[in-house]
Amino acid sequence: MRLSRILLFATCLAAGAWAQTGQKLYQFHCAFCHGKGDDGFAANLVTPNLVHAPTDTSLLNIIRNGIPGTDMPPALGMTDAEMSEVAGYVRSLGRSAPTSVPGDTAKGKVLYSTKVGCSGCHMVEGKGGRSGPDLTQIGAMRSPSNLRTSIVAPDAAMVGGWTMVHATMKDGRKISGIRLNEDNFSLSLRDGKAQLQTIDKSATSAIQRDINKSSMPNYSKVFSAEELDNVIAYLFSLRGGL
Ligand code: HEC
Ligand code: HEC
Repeated sequence: MRLSRILLFATCLAAGAWAQTGQKLYQFHCAFCHGKGDDGFAANLVTPNLVHAPTDTSLLNIIRNGIPGTDMPPALGMTDAEMSEVAGYVRSLGRSAPTSVPGDTAKGKVLYSTKVGCSGCHMVEGKGGRSGPDLTQIGAMRSPSNLRTSIVAPDAAMVGGWTMVHATMKDGRKISGIRLNEDNFSLSLRDGKAQLQTIDKSATSAIQRDINKSSMPNYSKVFSAEELDNVIAYLFSLRGGL
């Protein structure tokens, strides 16, 4: 079993070495995380404006070195020429990006800010809550289909760094919030009132972590199909100057 896996891996590596075009290199080195470009679990690449790679130099730099502090790894075993090929392919994905989506952006903005309280948790251009990621550039970072999943099935489109934790203290108090930091002795979190709390683990009787469960409500039954299109159109229009 183990040996056959190693052989399979070696075969893949050899196949990768022979692959010439940017697309084949992409499939070998990048598709595992980025899918076809807009359907992977990593950043959407089917967009003309890559947040981390506005220029060709920065794109090559990301491919060569990865993005430190994130799951985007440095390229392994690729020559400079191959990296340029992949960069060219990523740019071609960007050129095929949809520039508009069905739906009414203005109506979506109203739904977003008033009807269901998205802004209570999310910040756009400095306004809103801090219980979820900043959405100022979300239209440049995510594909329309990924935005849709975030709204109707939040657990299936989790982004890292927003794990909810629930601590039960030995004196019976319960403290919940978004985990900011954790080590063997302490846990720090931001509670529902946006207060930072640092908890001494020895004073707790239990700690529960919602690892694959989003704290974002599921809106699949809240929006009509048309309203959902409108909210997605609004989110897709958020490009924060990009
Ligand atoms: C192990 C998974 C993984 C692999 C393999 C991977 N990436 Fe990524 N990539 C990511 C993640 C995760 C991010 C988002 C990083 C962040 O900002 O949090 C990312 C981000 C990027 C970005 C920045 C997107 C933006 O909006 O600025 C580019 C460009 C990119 N990857 C290209 C590639 C290319 C090209 C390859 C193949 C050579 C590749 N990636 C391989 C996980 C991966
Ligand atoms: C109770 C707080 C809360 C509310 C209300 C809320 N969200 Fe979220 N949202 C989150 C959290 C936390 C995450 C990050 C965890 C995850 O990926 O599910 C998130 C993630 C997202 C993402 C994915 C971000 C990314 O980087 O891919 C989008 C898009 C989003 N929310 C849009 C919305 C919209 C639109 C609404 C209103 C219809 C809304 N949210 C309401 C907490 C909230």
